[in-house]
Amino acid sequence: MCGIIGINSYKPVSVSIINSLKKLEYRGYDSAGIATLSSGLINEVKSEGRVDKLEKNSLVQGMEGTIGIGHVRWATHGLPNSVNAHPHSSQNVSVVHNGIIENSTLLKKLLVSKGHKFKSQTDTEVIVHLITEHLKTYDIVSSIQKTLKSLHGSFALGIIFKDQPDLIVGARRGSPLAVGYGPNENYLGSDSYALKSMTNKITYLDDGEFCIIKKDYVEFFNEEGIKINKKVLELSSDEEKYDKGDYKHFMAKEIEEQPITLKNGIKEYIDNSNNDVNIYNFPWKVNEISSISLIGCGTAYHSCLMAKYWFEQLTSLDVNVDIASEFRYRKNRFKKETLYIFVSQSGETADTYAALDLCKKNGMKTCAVVNVIESSIARDSEFVLPIHCGTEIGVASTKAFLNQILILYILCLKLGLLRKDIKKDVFTQKLKDLNNLPKLAEQTLLIDNKIQTVSNTFNKAKGSMFLGRGFSYPIALEGALKLKELSYIHAEGYPAGEMKHGPLALIEEGMPVVVLAPRDSYYKKTISNMQEVIARGAKVLLITNKSKDEVVSENIWETLEVESTNEDLLPFLLTIPLQKLAYYSALKKGFDIDKPRNLAKSVTVE
Ligand code: F6R
Repeated sequence: MCGIIGINSYKPVSVSIINSLKKLEYRGYDSAGIATLSSGLINEVKSEGRVDKLEKNSLVQGMEGTIGIGHVRWATHGLPNSVNAHPHSSQNVSVVHNGIIENSTLLKKLLVSKGHKFKSQTDTEVIVHLITEHLKTYDIVSSIQKTLKSLHGSFALGIIFKDQPDLIVGARRGSPLAVGYGPNENYLGSDSYALKSMTNKITYLDDGEFCIIKKDYVEFFNEEGIKINKKVLELSSDEEKYDKGDYKHFMAKEIEEQPITLKNGIKEYIDNSNNDVNIYNFPWKVNEISSISLIGCGTAYHSCLMAKYWFEQLTSLDVNVDIASEFRYRKNRFKKETLYIFVSQSGETADTYAALDLCKKNGMKTCAVVNVIESSIARDSEFVLPIHCGTEIGVASTKAFLNQILILYILCLKLGLLRKDIKKDVFTQKLKDLNNLPKLAEQTLLIDNKIQTVSNTFNKAKGSMFLGRGFSYPIALEGALKLKELSYIHAEGYPAGEMKHGPLALIEEGMPVVVLAPRDSYYKKTISNMQEVIARGAKVLLITNKSKDEVVSENIWETLEVESTNEDLLPFLLTIPLQKLAYYSALKKGFDIDKPRNLAKSVTVE
């Protein structure tokens, strides 16, 4: 992951670099650092922890220099401390890096044998010394080109040189990198978001390319070091407001925003006057698609799994679901008639991007379901379905999950209708129900006090389980993921019917178990599975939907009732109390909810 920024200006740059680093913190927050050039010297300041801490460092406050680079780190090689923080510098060169250099051990050996001295445990430092070594013989362009050639792995780099007061080098392989153009200054950044307060004119580097950023112009080069021309894109200049409002955390705000973000997604895709779904410019004829392959990581993978249940239930399409990091290395049997759908909030997840790249290289049909429409996955897919939920800041995905499954559900309805798997009257009814979903989400959000109370038990438990069947199973996985990533409590999501094949052995007196049993086609089966865990001493939190029929079961610890709707849509509503359960558990433990330990919002390393 990691975030990088570079600014070459006529004015001092340290304040702007720190401000951009604050925006990049969603990419990593183990440590941060900055290097500027002033009076012919590289000044470097680094610290463990957040950008705030770096900003308060007195050395940063007085930092001079009109050219500089900055970094926020998500540690891959070496502990998250100030020595391993970037930039890494020799006397001549300073480097910030996002990615992983896979052959760093070998390269380090070679460089040490030539007399280079290493200070950190990072893979990045080999880049510094390789460039320093090449500069003894070659000019900047050749030194960069030769260095990049010898690196295996992925990187986005920002590099400054002691003897070059008007030059930042940027380079990309695998990890995203953007160049921005301002008045009398130019920029380098991990994404357009970091640059947006300074410019909306952007060029994205493609794999293998590097660039030289001067104050007044930028030059681009291909892998061979030959100059190339690149397009300048003009992004929307509206800067979204990213404040927490009255909320304590972005996550709380993002959970509460869900009725609105669902409404926005519905508005973008549902044509109520014609009872239809608008998916403009869909590049394939419906008879060219006989199967769907859905690919993502983490929460986005859970969205894929959710979609599989809908596609199988409502259409005759064959559906396959994959975790991107598995898909990319498996022996895949690519089929022309399969539509490959890549689900990613950030659109930058390295494994998901690699899976997309693999599909493209095999000539497959590719579609991205993303939130960030300028992202690499969106740019490189043949077709994009934006999820329209607005920027998500909390590292734990909430509103993006609901809007991912919303858009996948809408796509499922449309393809089902076109393939004549769904009758028009059923389709119309489902759209009607969908239009009502934001309201039901709003009402479901009112369940709050009880969740706060039950979260006390989850806090104290050494582990917990989340069970569901059918449509509720992906939501059980998602609920367990949210709890573990925020409150660091061990949580397993399981298909309720699988418990007796092993996991039942984990159940002991007082263990909190969430059972998702909405009144759908699986209801009775799930209730039976619930009895089995209650009989073994579990404290069951049953989450169902409102109904005139009482739940017939004894010894349920607590019950939460979400609103009622058709069974396709219940997963949306079941998700909400699970998000809140994770939130309140973490809140009571005093953990950093928007930035859980060891994680980052955009996972740009594999
Ligand atoms: C969990 C979470 C992660 C992401 C995963 C994929 O709350 O947010 O599991 O879902 O890292 O990220 P994207 O969707 O950006 O590809």
